[in-house]
Amino acid sequence: MSEQVRIIEMGPRDGLQNEKTAVGVEARIAFVEALVAAGLDTVEVGAFVSPKAIPQMVGSDEVLRGVGRLPGEFHVLVPNEKGYDAARAAGAEVVSVFAAASEGFSRANINCSIAESIERFKPVMARAKADGVRVRGYISCVLGCPFDGEIKPKAVAGVAKTLWEVGCYEVSLGDTIGVGTPTKAREMLRAVGTEVPIAHLAMHFHDTYGQALANLYAGLEEGARVIDSAAGGLGGCPYAPGATGNVATEDVVYMLEGMGVRTGVDMAKLVAATNEIAGLLGRPPVSRVVNALNAKRSSGR
Ligand code: HMG
Ligand code: MG
Repeated sequence: MSEQVRIIEMGPRDGLQNEKTAVGVEARIAFVEALVAAGLDTVEVGAFVSPKAIPQMVGSDEVLRGVGRLPGEFHVLVPNEKGYDAARAAGAEVVSVFAAASEGFSRANINCSIAESIERFKPVMARAKADGVRVRGYISCVLGCPFDGEIKPKAVAGVAKTLWEVGCYEVSLGDTIGVGTPTKAREMLRAVGTEVPIAHLAMHFHDTYGQALANLYAGLEEGARVIDSAAGGLGGCPYAPGATGNVATEDVVYMLEGMGVRTGVDMAKLVAATNEIAGLLGRPPVSRVVNALNAKRSSGR
């Protein structure tokens, strides 16, 4: 596989939003700096959501301002116009709205139905268009929901079609609770691909059941070329019971480079960034590649 694959780094947002230890603004800025220095040029750095819902993302305005001078593209989540206003005031040029493929998760996460969430996004889309701001759209629970169970590929395709039609430049497909397997991931991508060109789809797979890399591989075979991942395998959503981290960026980079895809990521610098944040969080990274490289380094091999 010789084509380019784009990695969107989730560590500072999805990675930290569910941590018991809230990481301060300075450390979040330093984390983004380290990720950019490692060659990750697109990083989701925060969320303009209710501070009651996600206190870990308080200060996202300061983080966004703090990284503004760095070379790179910085994304932030916005659930509504209030979030959009705050994101723009902090200089956001790319924002992400987030919907779900299941009614149960939509209600738990953003306190409204799927249809209502789209209505909330419409004024954000209109404002963004007028401001020249690009909008990415997420869909959660594309391979299963903690509340509603199995999710039909057709249901995902329907929401993707709507996000695409309202003007999202890319639709990121979230296996929020990491229950998917490669065959299901493939079927889902094929269904969504009938509504949104595959070049405009991203794979956002959590690794709860250890299937994320296999699911990504299946997606790459289908032609998908955008991957959301988090340094060290950080991540999770407080409204997705049982969910663990995103697929680890190191594991994705290792797989892609092994397949002959150049990622432009400096693995040693990335592992150093992950070790630094893991130290702050007080627990070791879950990434297999990070742990293998740390063990190799400490044994001097
Ligand atoms: P609501 O209670 O329905 O909203 O929450 P509301 O409009 O009635 O407002 C309630 C309060 O929130 C008010 O404050 C508002 O001012 C405030 P109060 O009067 O009670 O003091 N508020 C806000 N504050 C800051 N920023 C805002 C904002 N909007 C309202 N933008 C709402 C609806 C969407 C706001 C809430 O449910 C919320 O913030 N949810 C966030 C959930 C979230 O961030 N989840 C994690 C990210 S999604 C994810 O991780 C999945 C993903 O990774 C993909 C995947 O893995 O599947 C993307
Ligand atoms: Mg996620």
